[in-house]
Amino acid sequence: MTAPLYAIPGAKATAMPEAAEAAVEPTAPIRPRSVADVLAESKVESVLDELERDLIGLVPVKSRIRDIAALLVIDKLRAQHGLAAQAPSLHMCFTGNPGTGKTTVAMRMAKILHSLGYVRKGHVVSVTRDDLVGQYIGHTAPKTKEVLKKAMGGVLFIDEAYYLYRPDNERDYGQEAIEILLQVMENQRDDLVVILAGYKDRMNTFFQSNPGMSSRIAHHLDFPDYDGAELLQIAGLQLESAHYRFGAGAREAFDAYLQRRIAQPHFANARSVRNALDRARLRQASRLYADRDSPLTAEALSTLAASDILASRVFTNEPPGPGCARPAPQGTSP
Ligand SMILES: Nc1ncnc2c1ncn2[C@@H]1O[C@H](COP(=O)(O)OP(=O)(O)O)[C@@H](O)[C@H]1O
Ligand SMILES: [Mg+2]
Repeated sequence: MTAPLYAIPGAKATAMPEAAEAAVEPTAPIRPRSVADVLAESKVESVLDELERDLIGLVPVKSRIRDIAALLVIDKLRAQHGLAAQAPSLHMCFTGNPGTGKTTVAMRMAKILHSLGYVRKGHVVSVTRDDLVGQYIGHTAPKTKEVLKKAMGGVLFIDEAYYLYRPDNERDYGQEAIEILLQVMENQRDDLVVILAGYKDRMNTFFQSNPGMSSRIAHHLDFPDYDGAELLQIAGLQLESAHYRFGAGAREAFDAYLQRRIAQPHFANARSVRNALDRARLRQASRLYADRDSPLTAEALSTLAASDILASRVFTNEPPGPGCARPAPQGTSP
């Protein structure tokens, strides 16, 4: 007889006291367990709560993750009664623009899968095409297999996965990597979860040309762009965790910054927020450094002034494009 998935402390004492023979039966009835039992044993709830607390917005993503967690908990309970058919397919695809939280959520996902016992180790190995595909004949298979070996027992996160497939080049080595991945995704799915990530439109095109990959992905999660209010909240969270805060007028200045920055090229959601705050911290440091003699309080050291934000180039360089020419210098009008 195989051991139950979870040992139930005290279960023996409550098992069928009226049937004396039942105690010697090798297959005593299994005490039905509750969702709460599984949650209590797995710590998955605390991971889900952290996800809810630490990540701003992402409402559809969080709700999908809760659904997946529920599926896995129920799957555990089904397995206890011999109802599970096979290991659930957990390979996923995260689509969205840069800085929308895909990598961050993949890390949390690994924790969730680990806490429920779906992966042994719960680590994330993050790769791109260059980590999987070789330059010369015979180099790709060993490269891909090495990465897979490292990722076993955890999550393999393939960023911009569509670069594995080059439709213009039939003999591209990426195809070899895809075939090895497909095999492992099918045969070792009880020990490895693959998450593909990237822009939504390119991923869709990739799946159209690679139906084998598409059919092995059980969960598609789409990460929306953040709106201005969410970006401002993310900024607050990032500042707080670094022990900084906005001083008088600085939050409003950062809001104005975001509105301009969003409209510019290469805006990368929460990542651009992080970069902008890093630059504001540099300016704060230069400002404080310039005054050699004043003793600096903890408050002064942790406060970003409005001027630290307003010195950004987005306030001086108008975005390119028609109608965005620099305003004429003042005082030249007739
Ligand atoms: N919803 C969010 N709430 C708070 N911080 C976020 C959120 N989404 C992303 N971030 C932060 O933004 C940065 C970029 O996120 P990342 O997961 O690398 O995005 P992606 O992989 O989609 O490019 C990280 O530092 C992350 O902590
Ligand atoms: Mg990423």
